[in-house]
Amino acid sequence: MNIDLTNKVALVTGASRGIGRATAIQLASAGADVIVNYMTSRSAAEDTANEIIQLGRQAWIIKADVSEKEDVETMFDFIKNEIGRLDILVSNAATGGFRPLLAASNKNFDAAFHTNVLALMYLVQSAIPLMEKKPTRGKIITISSHGAIAGLPMYGLVGSSKAALESLVRHFTLEIGDRGININVVRAGLVATDSSKRLPNAEQLFKNQINFTQVGERILAPEDVANTILFLASPLSDMIQGETITIDGGAAIRGA
Ligand SMILES: NC(=O)c1ccc[n+]([C@@H]2O[C@H](COP(=O)([O-])OP(=O)(O)OC[C@H]3O[C@@H](n4cnc5c(N)ncnc54)[C@H](OP(=O)(O)O)[C@@H]3O)[C@@H](O)[C@H]2O)c1
Repeated sequence: MNIDLTNKVALVTGASRGIGRATAIQLASAGADVIVNYMTSRSAAEDTANEIIQLGRQAWIIKADVSEKEDVETMFDFIKNEIGRLDILVSNAATGGFRPLLAASNKNFDAAFHTNVLALMYLVQSAIPLMEKKPTRGKIITISSHGAIAGLPMYGLVGSSKAALESLVRHFTLEIGDRGININVVRAGLVATDSSKRLPNAEQLFKNQINFTQVGERILAPEDVANTILFLASPLSDMIQGETITIDGGAAIRGA
Protein backbone atom coordinates (compact mmCIF):
# COMPACT_ATOMS: atom_id res chain seq x y z
CA MET A 1 0.00 0.00 0.00
CA ASN A 2 1.42 3.37 -1.01
CA ILE A 3 1.07 6.35 1.31
CA ASP A 4 -1.32 8.77 -0.35
CA LEU A 5 -2.15 11.95 1.54
CA THR A 6 -3.98 13.64 -1.32
CA ASN A 7 -6.67 16.07 -0.07
CA LYS A 8 -5.16 16.06 3.44
CA VAL A 9 -3.99 19.26 5.11
CA ALA A 10 -0.97 19.09 7.41
CA LEU A 11 0.40 21.69 9.82
CA VAL A 12 4.12 21.40 10.57
CA THR A 13 5.44 23.68 13.31
CA GLY A 14 9.01 24.89 12.85
CA ALA A 15 8.93 23.97 9.17
CA SER A 16 11.38 26.66 8.12
CA ARG A 17 14.45 24.55 8.93
CA GLY A 18 15.85 21.13 9.82
CA ILE A 19 13.56 18.17 10.53
CA GLY A 20 10.41 20.31 10.24
CA ARG A 21 11.34 21.43 6.74
CA ALA A 22 12.15 17.86 5.64
CA THR A 23 8.83 16.69 7.10
CA ALA A 24 6.79 19.38 5.35
CA ILE A 25 8.37 18.41 2.02
CA GLN A 26 7.94 14.67 2.64
CA LEU A 27 4.24 15.11 3.48
CA ALA A 28 3.78 17.22 0.35
CA SER A 29 5.56 14.54 -1.72
CA ALA A 30 2.90 12.11 -0.47
CA GLY A 31 0.16 14.50 -1.66
CA ALA A 32 -0.66 16.65 1.38
CA ASP A 33 -1.14 20.40 1.30
CA VAL A 34 1.01 21.91 4.03
CA ILE A 35 0.86 24.81 6.45
CA VAL A 36 4.43 25.95 7.06
CA ASN A 37 4.76 27.46 10.54
CA TYR A 38 7.86 29.43 11.49
CA MET A 39 8.86 31.92 14.16
CA THR A 40 11.81 34.02 12.91
CA SER A 41 13.14 32.57 9.62
CA ARG A 42 10.71 34.03 7.08
CA SER A 43 12.84 33.47 3.98
CA ALA A 44 13.62 29.88 5.00
CA ALA A 45 9.86 29.30 5.47
CA GLU A 46 9.32 30.71 1.97
CA ASP A 47 11.92 28.27 0.60
CA THR A 48 10.05 25.35 2.22
CA ALA A 49 6.74 26.61 0.83
CA ASN A 50 8.23 27.03 -2.67
CA GLU A 51 9.44 23.42 -2.65
CA ILE A 52 5.94 22.29 -1.66
CA ILE A 53 4.39 24.32 -4.47
CA GLN A 54 6.90 22.84 -6.95
CA LEU A 55 5.60 19.42 -5.89
CA GLY A 56 2.17 20.56 -7.08
CA ARG A 57 0.76 21.00 -3.58
CA GLN A 58 -0.67 24.02 -1.82
CA ALA A 59 1.37 25.77 0.90
CA TRP A 60 0.48 28.42 3.44
CA ILE A 61 3.05 30.23 5.59
CA ILE A 62 2.08 31.23 9.13
CA LYS A 63 4.32 33.04 11.58
CA ALA A 64 3.49 32.02 15.16
CA ASP A 65 5.45 31.46 18.34
CA VAL A 66 4.02 28.12 19.45
CA SER A 67 4.99 28.79 23.07
CA GLU A 68 2.44 31.63 23.12
CA LYS A 69 -1.20 30.58 23.50
CA GLU A 70 -2.48 33.66 21.66
CA ASP A 71 -0.21 33.02 18.67
CA VAL A 72 -1.41 29.42 18.46
CA GLU A 73 -5.05 30.52 18.66
CA THR A 74 -4.53 33.14 15.95
CA MET A 75 -2.86 30.53 13.75
CA PHE A 76 -5.86 28.21 14.19
CA ASP A 77 -8.30 31.04 13.45
CA PHE A 78 -6.58 31.32 10.07
CA ILE A 79 -6.63 27.55 9.52
CA LYS A 80 -10.32 27.34 10.43
CA ASN A 81 -11.46 30.38 8.45
CA GLU A 82 -9.18 30.27 5.40
CA ILE A 83 -8.43 26.55 4.97
CA GLY A 84 -11.31 24.90 6.79
CA ARG A 85 -9.67 21.59 7.61
CA LEU A 86 -6.72 19.93 9.33
CA ASP A 87 -5.85 16.25 9.12
CA ILE A 88 -2.24 16.05 10.31
CA LEU A 89 -0.48 18.06 13.03
CA VAL A 90 3.29 17.74 13.41
CA SER A 91 4.43 19.53 16.55
CA ASN A 92 8.13 19.77 15.71
CA ALA A 93 9.32 23.22 16.85
CA ALA A 94 11.56 23.16 19.90
CA THR A 95 14.16 25.25 21.57
CA GLY A 96 17.67 24.13 22.57
CA GLY A 97 18.98 26.13 25.47
CA PHE A 98 21.92 23.80 26.10
CA ARG A 99 23.37 24.60 29.55
CA PRO A 100 24.17 22.94 32.89
CA LEU A 101 21.15 22.59 35.19
CA LEU A 102 23.23 24.13 37.98
CA ALA A 103 23.44 27.34 35.92
CA ALA A 104 19.83 27.35 34.68
CA SER A 105 17.40 30.14 35.62
CA ASN A 106 13.62 30.04 35.92
CA LYS A 107 13.57 31.88 32.61
CA ASN A 108 15.65 29.17 30.92
CA PHE A 109 13.38 26.49 32.39
CA ASP A 110 10.23 28.28 31.25
CA ALA A 111 11.60 28.79 27.73
CA ALA A 112 12.39 25.07 27.35
CA PHE A 113 9.13 23.81 28.83
CA HIS A 114 6.89 26.39 27.16
CA THR A 115 8.24 25.70 23.67
CA ASN A 116 8.91 21.98 24.02
CA VAL A 117 5.94 20.87 26.15
CA LEU A 118 3.23 23.47 26.68
CA ALA A 119 3.09 24.22 22.95
CA LEU A 120 1.79 20.70 22.31
CA MET A 121 -1.04 21.28 24.75
CA TYR A 122 -2.00 24.57 23.06
CA LEU A 123 -1.77 22.97 19.61
CA VAL A 124 -3.82 19.89 20.47
CA GLN A 125 -6.50 21.91 22.27
CA SER A 126 -6.88 24.17 19.24
CA ALA A 127 -6.65 21.34 16.69
CA ILE A 128 -9.24 18.93 18.13
CA PRO A 129 -12.38 20.67 16.79
CA LEU A 130 -10.90 20.56 13.26
CA MET A 131 -9.50 17.04 13.45
CA GLU A 132 -11.94 14.91 15.41
CA LYS A 133 -14.48 12.40 14.16
CA LYS A 134 -13.69 12.34 10.45
CA PRO A 135 -14.02 9.40 8.04
CA THR A 136 -10.24 8.86 8.31
CA ARG A 137 -8.28 9.25 11.54
CA GLY A 138 -6.52 12.51 12.37
CA LYS A 139 -2.81 12.23 13.14
CA ILE A 140 -0.74 14.14 15.67
CA ILE A 141 3.00 13.56 15.86
CA THR A 142 5.62 15.22 18.01
CA ILE A 143 9.40 14.86 18.23
CA SER A 144 11.45 13.74 21.20
CA SER A 145 15.09 12.80 21.69
CA HIS A 146 17.23 10.34 23.64
CA GLY A 147 17.58 12.98 26.36
CA ALA A 148 14.06 11.97 27.48
CA ILE A 149 15.41 8.70 28.88
CA ALA A 150 19.17 9.29 29.23
CA GLY A 151 21.38 11.83 30.97
CA LEU A 152 23.31 13.87 28.41
CA PRO A 153 25.80 16.70 29.12
CA MET A 154 24.26 20.22 29.02
CA TYR A 155 20.93 18.68 27.97
CA GLY A 156 19.04 18.68 31.29
CA LEU A 157 16.42 21.26 30.35
CA VAL A 158 15.74 19.89 26.89
CA GLY A 159 15.96 16.24 28.01
CA SER A 160 13.54 16.70 30.90
CA SER A 161 11.18 18.69 28.66
CA LYS A 162 11.20 15.80 26.16
CA ALA A 163 10.43 13.32 28.95
CA ALA A 164 7.45 15.49 29.91
CA LEU A 165 6.43 15.68 26.25
CA GLU A 166 6.40 11.88 25.89
CA SER A 167 4.28 11.58 29.03
CA LEU A 168 1.92 14.31 27.82
CA VAL A 169 1.33 12.30 24.65
CA ARG A 170 0.51 9.11 26.60
CA HIS A 171 -2.03 11.06 28.66
CA PHE A 172 -3.53 12.84 25.65
CA THR A 173 -4.12 9.39 24.17
CA LEU A 174 -6.71 8.66 26.84
CA GLU A 175 -8.62 11.82 25.97
CA ILE A 176 -8.46 11.89 22.16
CA GLY A 177 -7.97 8.27 21.05
CA ASP A 178 -11.69 7.62 20.93
CA ARG A 179 -12.32 10.88 19.10
CA GLY A 180 -10.76 9.61 15.88
CA ILE A 181 -7.22 10.84 16.44
CA ASN A 182 -3.88 9.09 16.83
CA ILE A 183 -1.13 10.84 18.77
CA ASN A 184 2.42 9.49 18.81
CA VAL A 185 6.02 10.54 19.37
CA VAL A 186 9.06 10.10 17.15
CA ARG A 187 12.19 9.89 19.29
CA ALA A 188 15.03 10.86 16.95
CA GLY A 189 18.74 10.27 17.30
CA LEU A 190 21.32 12.92 16.48
CA VAL A 191 20.66 14.73 13.18
CA ALA A 192 22.87 17.52 11.83
CA THR A 193 20.66 20.63 11.97
CA ASP A 194 21.17 24.24 13.06
CA SER A 195 20.22 23.41 16.65
CA SER A 196 22.24 20.21 17.09
CA LYS A 197 25.30 21.96 15.63
CA ARG A 198 25.07 24.27 18.67
CA LEU A 199 25.44 21.37 21.13
CA PRO A 200 28.51 22.13 23.29
CA ASN A 201 30.34 18.95 22.15
CA ALA A 202 28.83 18.87 18.65
CA GLU A 203 32.05 18.20 16.72
CA GLN A 204 32.87 15.14 18.82
CA LEU A 205 29.28 13.86 18.73
CA PHE A 206 29.10 14.04 14.94
CA LYS A 207 32.55 12.44 14.62
CA ASN A 208 31.51 9.51 16.82
CA GLN A 209 28.07 9.11 15.29
CA ILE A 210 29.16 6.65 12.62
CA ASN A 211 30.59 4.33 15.32
CA PHE A 212 27.23 4.04 17.06
CA THR A 213 24.77 3.55 14.23
CA GLN A 214 24.13 -0.07 13.27
CA VAL A 215 23.24 0.38 9.61
CA GLY A 216 26.67 0.50 8.01
CA GLU A 217 28.27 3.71 6.74
CA ARG A 218 25.18 5.86 7.05
CA ILE A 219 24.18 8.49 9.57
CA LEU A 220 20.72 9.80 10.38
CA ALA A 221 19.36 12.52 8.07
CA PRO A 222 16.34 14.82 8.55
CA GLU A 223 14.60 12.87 5.78
CA ASP A 224 14.90 9.62 7.81
CA VAL A 225 13.04 11.23 10.69
CA ALA A 226 10.54 12.70 8.22
CA ASN A 227 9.88 9.20 6.81
CA THR A 228 8.89 7.93 10.26
CA ILE A 229 6.63 10.95 10.70
CA LEU A 230 5.12 10.27 7.26
CA PHE A 231 4.31 6.70 8.33
CA LEU A 232 2.68 7.94 11.54
CA ALA A 233 0.74 10.52 9.50
CA SER A 234 -0.67 7.80 7.26
CA PRO A 235 -3.48 5.25 7.70
CA LEU A 236 -0.77 2.54 7.91
CA SER A 237 -0.30 3.56 11.55
CA ASP A 238 -3.97 3.61 12.59
CA MET A 239 -3.34 1.02 15.33
CA ILE A 240 -0.29 2.80 16.79
CA GLN A 241 -1.48 4.96 19.65
CA GLY A 242 0.32 6.87 22.41
CA GLU A 243 3.66 5.33 21.44
CA THR A 244 7.18 6.61 21.17
CA ILE A 245 9.02 5.23 18.13
CA THR A 246 12.81 5.52 17.97
CA ILE A 247 14.55 6.39 14.71
CA ASP A 248 18.33 6.46 15.15
CA GLY A 249 19.83 3.71 12.99
CA GLY A 250 20.24 1.56 16.09
CA ALA A 251 22.47 4.05 17.95
CA ALA A 252 20.58 3.67 21.23
CA ILE A 253 21.31 -0.07 21.19
CA ARG A 254 24.96 0.95 21.68
CA GLY A 255 24.04 3.47 24.38
CA ALA A 256 24.31 6.65 22.27
N1 LIG B 1 18.58 17.72 15.48
C1 LIG B 1 18.60 16.70 16.30
O1 LIG B 1 19.66 16.04 16.48
C2 LIG B 1 17.36 16.26 17.01
C3 LIG B 1 17.37 15.03 17.68
C4 LIG B 1 16.23 14.61 18.34
C5 LIG B 1 15.10 15.40 18.33
N2 LIG B 1 15.12 16.61 17.68
C6 LIG B 1 13.89 17.39 17.72
O2 LIG B 1 13.46 17.61 16.39
C7 LIG B 1 12.77 18.86 16.31
C8 LIG B 1 13.37 19.73 15.26
O3 LIG B 1 14.72 19.97 15.59
P1 LIG B 1 15.77 20.54 14.52
O4 LIG B 1 17.08 20.04 14.96
O5 LIG B 1 15.29 20.29 13.14
O6 LIG B 1 15.69 22.09 14.85
P2 LIG B 1 16.19 23.38 14.01
O7 LIG B 1 16.88 22.97 12.74
O8 LIG B 1 16.93 24.22 14.97
O9 LIG B 1 14.82 24.09 13.63
C9 LIG B 1 13.97 24.50 14.63
C10 LIG B 1 12.68 24.95 13.99
O10 LIG B 1 11.76 25.26 15.03
C11 LIG B 1 11.27 26.58 14.84
N3 LIG B 1 10.95 27.17 16.13
C12 LIG B 1 11.74 27.28 17.23
N4 LIG B 1 11.05 27.85 18.25
C13 LIG B 1 9.80 28.10 17.76
C14 LIG B 1 8.63 28.66 18.33
N5 LIG B 1 8.60 29.08 19.59
N6 LIG B 1 7.53 28.77 17.54
C15 LIG B 1 7.53 28.33 16.26
N7 LIG B 1 8.62 27.80 15.68
C16 LIG B 1 9.74 27.68 16.42
C17 LIG B 1 12.35 27.31 14.07
O11 LIG B 1 11.73 28.39 13.38
P3 LIG B 1 12.48 29.78 13.03
O12 LIG B 1 13.79 29.40 12.39
O13 LIG B 1 11.54 30.43 12.09
O14 LIG B 1 12.66 30.52 14.30
C18 LIG B 1 12.85 26.20 13.16
O15 LIG B 1 12.04 26.07 12.01
C19 LIG B 1 12.81 19.44 17.72
O16 LIG B 1 11.66 19.05 18.44
C20 LIG B 1 14.04 18.77 18.31
O17 LIG B 1 14.03 18.77 19.73
C21 LIG B 1 16.22 17.05 17.02
